Amino acid sequence: MRTLDPLLQDFRLKHLTLRNRVVSTSHEPAYGEDGMPKDRYRLYHLEKARGGVGLTMIGGSAVVSPDSPPSFGNLLLYRDDIVPWLRRLSDDVHEAGAAVMCQVTHLGRRTSNFTGDWLPLVYPSRLREPAHRAFPKVAEPWDLDRIVADFRDAALRCRDGGLDGIELMAYGHLFDAFHSPATNHRSDELGGTLERRMAFPRRVIQEIRAAVGPDFIIGIRMSMEEDLAGGLGREEALELLRHYVHDGIDFLSVIKGNIDSDAHLAAVIPSMGTPAAPFLEFTGELKRALDIPVMHAARIQDVATARYAVREGLLDLVGMTRPQLADPHLVRKLAAGEEDRIRPCVGANYCLDAIYDSGDAKCIHNPATGREQTLPHTIERSPRPRRKTVVVGAGPAGLEAARVLGERGHQVVVFEAADAPGGQIRLAASSPRRADLIGIVDWRVTEAKHSGVDFRYGTLAGTKEVLAEEPDLVVVATGGTPDRSFLTAGQELVMDTWDVMDGSFRTHGDVLVYDDNGTEQAMDATELLATRGARVELVTPERQLAPGVGSMNSPAYLAAFTEHDVTITLAYRLTAVTRGADGRPVAHLVSDYADHPLERHVDQVVVEHGTLPNDDLYFELLPGSSNLGEVDHEALLAGSPQTVNRNAAGSYQLFRIGDAVNSRNIHAAIYDALRLCTAT
Ligand SMILES: Cc1cc2nc3c(=O)[nH]c(=O)nc-3n(C[C@H](O)[C@H](O)[C@H](O)COP(=O)(O)O)c2cc1C
Ligand code: SF4
Repeated sequence: MRTLDPLLQDFRLKHLTLRNRVVSTSHEPAYGEDGMPKDRYRLYHLEKARGGVGLTMIGGSAVVSPDSPPSFGNLLLYRDDIVPWLRRLSDDVHEAGAAVMCQVTHLGRRTSNFTGDWLPLVYPSRLREPAHRAFPKVAEPWDLDRIVADFRDAALRCRDGGLDGIELMAYGHLFDAFHSPATNHRSDELGGTLERRMAFPRRVIQEIRAAVGPDFIIGIRMSMEEDLAGGLGREEALELLRHYVHDGIDFLSVIKGNIDSDAHLAAVIPSMGTPAAPFLEFTGELKRALDIPVMHAARIQDVATARYAVREGLLDLVGMTRPQLADPHLVRKLAAGEEDRIRPCVGANYCLDAIYDSGDAKCIHNPATGREQTLPHTIERSPRPRRKTVVVGAGPAGLEAARVLGERGHQVVVFEAADAPGGQIRLAASSPRRADLIGIVDWRVTEAKHSGVDFRYGTLAGTKEVLAEEPDLVVVATGGTPDRSFLTAGQELVMDTWDVMDGSFRTHGDVLVYDDNGTEQAMDATELLATRGARVELVTPERQLAPGVGSMNSPAYLAAFTEHDVTITLAYRLTAVTRGADGRPVAHLVSDYADHPLERHVDQVVVEHGTLPNDDLYFELLPGSSNLGEVDHEALLAGSPQTVNRNAAGSYQLFRIGDAVNSRNIHAAIYDALRLCTAT
């Protein structure tokens, strides 16, 4: 049946017909192994191809030279042994109906001098990049000669690997550093006028085009307005592009802005709490000025916005990159009329921050992404008999357990003490800037209802309520409560970050927020307090602020803290709180680095020290269980059913997941649930 949906219309890109307008734009999830796109990498892209994407771009910032060492797991296009891996990937993706290209780059200064082969980094000028802190050397003619050849050889490897094309990365790396007046301060024949600044980039394009021939597609992902003092403006960018098209560029992927600092990068890849599709109108204006295909991605999160962009002719190909990290089956669901079942990208940017925090990209609420080797994106019905299951708690862990067990075909009852689902996510989403987090909850509740899960809110389930259901399986996902036990005195004198987020805290005067967790909780509370008029001092025993909050999420907090004059104190530990002569709390601080303790007389002390598990119910249920709570880790990791039997008299299996086990995060809670329940 033909569809009239503009998103599902095919598109001709040179000789290539894309089956629809939806693209996964270049991004490096750090799934490569030894710099190669091996099975994990291939399956990640194959999932999207099976999920209906028109074009998937691999190799975000794949590097062409050894003096462009990986800064976050980039693919090594300078090695010949990459070709067979590319070939396997492209064959599979093609067979699933999608096209595939690779982004190709030399990182210039946007990496480290102290990694890979430890070759000195090169750049047009000796300018340090704030985000990666490297001091580059000024590129010499012989550097540029070999880098041009490296670009050519990398493009040939992509072609030989069966890819449909490549995309040159032209924002924040070496290629564009030459054409931007902000970064090219040279006084030789490669600096100064526009013509001179474009000489090196033009050489690169010409060399590649001459080598790959006319049929191989070459695109460019370029900042068309750098929003940088002395940077590239729109008219100059268009002028450059006209030359690049003349030299062999086939399409433009539009970027607006620059990525030289965390703040600027966060603006280019906008997160929750920022306007949707901020550069769409800008893209439309460029499209009207150009006669090559135009692609663009930046927080086009939902199908309606993507459809509008194509229908109004603001672009030809719409990037929905994080949306397909969250749901690689986005296009398939759209085509099947199941738009409402698409797992939403909530814009948490955990995917990006996780690369630096835990080594590779992870979607905050889709643990199967990047784990296609072991976890399914589509839950199949269980081949085993239907079981009566009780899930206690409707936070992220409990909701995921309910969703998955329901899809497996089991009968599921969920008890939740509160009158609404969400647990700690509901608290976090009370920050106006992070309200979209609630999408994680809403999607799961809707999905669980599809499979008939019975939610019982306002029910504080004890052993009696659970056993009354005569369950075969009980999953305890009761979460945790804030931990104040680290204080040697004054637990009753402090508030915790939950009190701030749930609104039970009256904001006034001087507030000391103590963060010994290092993640979003204390940052959220501080932001909320400061914006409501409190004078806040944020104290941490760490040597940096919130080490668990990455470069994509920090900028918004830091902007709020700077605007509201939040004081940051590093390397001090809160040990106790007493009451001062004026009745106000006194915070007692010590440092591992100094012998002089500090006292802070404030109106309120707020603490964040993770949670203590709510595990009473679990331990009460333990004696009646067949497995006595034991998890067979080997089976869990292999995706096999749990079969431990330690108690012949036990009448049900018992497991606990999420913060009911120990204080962790949303991703960990959902991952616990998915891998346990998908094998049940
Ligand atoms: C994990 C991750 C890694 C990324 N790496 C790159 C990269 O190497 N090169 C690039 O041009 N863009 C990169 N991006 C940006 C994406 O291509 C895209 O522009 C961005 O996610 C905004 O589009 P979206 O809102 O559809 O996600 C990355 C994005 C993510 C989520
Ligand atoms: S982590 Fe957040 S921003 Fe990234 S894909 Fe998942 S929902 Fe989207």
